[in-house]
Amino acid sequence: MFNRSSLVPPLFLRLLPILLCSLFTVAQTKPVDAAGHQWWQHAVFYEIYPRSFADSNNDGVGDLNGISSKMSYLHELGVDAIWITPCYPSPQVDFGYDVSDYLNIDPMYGNLADFDHMVGDGKKRHIRIIMDFVPNHTSDQHPWFLDSKSSRTAAHRDWYIWRDGKAPGQPPNNWISIFGGSAWTLDQPTNQFYYHFFYAQQPDLNWRNPAVETAMLDTTRWWYKRGVSGFRLDAVDTLFEDPGLQDNPVLPGTNKQGDRNMKFQYNTNFPEVHQELQKLRKVADESDAVLIGETWTSNVAELDRYYGQNGDELQMPMDFMFTTVNKLSPADFRRQIAAVDSAHGWPVFVIGNHDLVRSYNRYGDGKNNDAIAKLMGAFYLTLRGTPIMYYGEEIGMENNDPTRKEDVKDPIGRTGWPAEKGRDGERTPMQWDAAPNAGFSKRDPWLPVPPSYKTHNVETESKDPNSILNLYKNVLALRHTNEALLEGSYAALNEDDPNVMSYLRSYRGKAVLVALNMSATPQKATFNLSQQGFARATLKPLIASPEASAKGSEVTLEPFGLLIAEVK
Ligand code: NOJ
Repeated sequence: MFNRSSLVPPLFLRLLPILLCSLFTVAQTKPVDAAGHQWWQHAVFYEIYPRSFADSNNDGVGDLNGISSKMSYLHELGVDAIWITPCYPSPQVDFGYDVSDYLNIDPMYGNLADFDHMVGDGKKRHIRIIMDFVPNHTSDQHPWFLDSKSSRTAAHRDWYIWRDGKAPGQPPNNWISIFGGSAWTLDQPTNQFYYHFFYAQQPDLNWRNPAVETAMLDTTRWWYKRGVSGFRLDAVDTLFEDPGLQDNPVLPGTNKQGDRNMKFQYNTNFPEVHQELQKLRKVADESDAVLIGETWTSNVAELDRYYGQNGDELQMPMDFMFTTVNKLSPADFRRQIAAVDSAHGWPVFVIGNHDLVRSYNRYGDGKNNDAIAKLMGAFYLTLRGTPIMYYGEEIGMENNDPTRKEDVKDPIGRTGWPAEKGRDGERTPMQWDAAPNAGFSKRDPWLPVPPSYKTHNVETESKDPNSILNLYKNVLALRHTNEALLEGSYAALNEDDPNVMSYLRSYRGKAVLVALNMSATPQKATFNLSQQGFARATLKPLIASPEASAKGSEVTLEPFGLLIAEVK
């Protein structure tokens, strides 16, 4: 007999889609605390340049098994996620940023089994793996580009940006590559130019072609399934360029490569970038993954846009404006932090990476470099936001720039010599101990270690309670357990003080005060915290430099001294 109710599914089946949907939403946004923070907001990230971290097979170049072998070091240091710069197959013109296969590992670093092993080793120590994704360009040896250049009618022709010259032998417009020379290279056989924002061996993908978009989104999905917890997105602002190819405005002077300066008005920062970031984010959300952006911006409004109007783009656009404060200036840092704190997303602080002169050199004064390295560590690791450390920063690694052009490995250092020495100096092997080659490899490494490896290395510094390494470890341990540091708001203190950078991190009646003497003379600072709800505050030091002290609410600091104190 026909039963009407048989057409109506039982209640649990009717609710199933809603239940599944809400489970899915919870999976994407699973908070790790009562304040609703996500895993990446509690995490400390650490950038690894795989060529230079640890060399397990002693061929002079680091590898994935090397990284696996250092997982306990990273865990003890207090790292929760490692971002590995590109380790995909690559001709290595730009040391991995010229990818010839997005779905594999370069044999120089190992293979996919080593990768899986590394993910497993990380998991055991609660360390997530973040890969570097290079969406703007491939290598000129990528099969897509090889096909693209094979003929004007090739299946992949429109995967890249091909144009006729303005006149015979003349590029389509005046755009220059950021790495030197015209951004256009003529392909003789098909008599058209292809566009490359970076080296000629890094042709730009054409993101206006939906097939490119699909292939790239699928690539990220593939890695998430393999256990990756997110991506650092390379050069996101250059994904699109003006289809009309208008000339960029030329500015006075020349750059280090000898090219005329120009404003990259018609080939960077197109609004379409944000649509693509939203799509990449949707895929990331399926796996509770995080997207970190290489977001060079000149003001906070620009940075703000990368979070997405509805918080639906990058969770972690890096604040590179912080790295442009290249002197120990409390006033400049306060301005910068206040601006970023007012943005609509979670701040992400870096003080160094594989493209920047090491923070040890940028902030060091030549005499007090170790004290300053500790000061800078205590500083950016106690701010509200997620820090991304650069390998070796925790032991005070310094730049080791080449002194002769013939020793330079980074191509921009050869074409721009001597004004531009390239980026080799900040990419030298990790200094593990005082043995030859700093214990990185039994063979001469691809780049030489600086003489300071004898004193600035993991083994030696582990034994010294006052080392940079132990300062980093102590601060990282504190920030993992102290609620005010993990969750708390940021309030600048004593804003007129030209020497002592100080701030309060507070959360639900608990507070931590950080005072950093950014000058070469001893300083005292007194704090009135009544406005912050601590009328008769006394400070209980948690971490301090050897001569720093607190009495009541007064702090005494030696030159470049630091104090992190609980407010009682
Ligand atoms: C930014 C990377 O950090 C840099 O090392 C690379 O050369 C360019 N993007 C091109 O991919």
